[in-house]
Amino acid sequence: MGKKESLQEKRQKMAEKRRRLRRRMRSCAQDILCSPNFRRSAAFCQHGRISVRSHSLMVAECSLQIRQKLLRLGIECRERELVRGALLHDYFLYDWHVKDKTHRLHGFFHPGTALANAQKEYVLSEREKNIILRHMWPLTPCPPACREAWIVTAADKYCSLRETLFLRRRRDA
Ligand SMILES: [Fe+2]
Ligand SMILES: [Fe+2]
Repeated sequence: MGKKESLQEKRQKMAEKRRRLRRRMRSCAQDILCSPNFRRSAAFCQHGRISVRSHSLMVAECSLQIRQKLLRLGIECRERELVRGALLHDYFLYDWHVKDKTHRLHGFFHPGTALANAQKEYVLSEREKNIILRHMWPLTPCPPACREAWIVTAADKYCSLRETLFLRRRRDA
């Protein structure tokens, strides 16, 4: 009984933490979250059953969590740029699983496509541009050049791995 309660408490705490992160995200990037193209990315597949929109939300959430951990160590980074860059890091706006010559070598070229698309709709800071353009390092040669871009690069790798493993497990089941 006691164990059940503590599990429930744990779940409630996690749900509350998630709500707080989502609030932070909305306060930094409500315009992106409500935009037609960002919403449209829910129809594009990223890993298995995870859409590009869900993946981008998870990367932004994970980046905020890393930021909080770094803050406890006295290391600061810019929250607004971190969130906006994370939400737009895969703003390539197509399904890369669909065979098309414009999607060739997706892994190498989609950061540039995402940046070009994002710049059509938003005025981006240098940090935000760096986050989008460098997030595929080390597949692409230039490493991130600011703390925020390093955080999103790490969060993206972590979330991608988690999405892939989770889906493999479901497929194997
Ligand atoms: Fe990407
Ligand atoms: Fe990504």
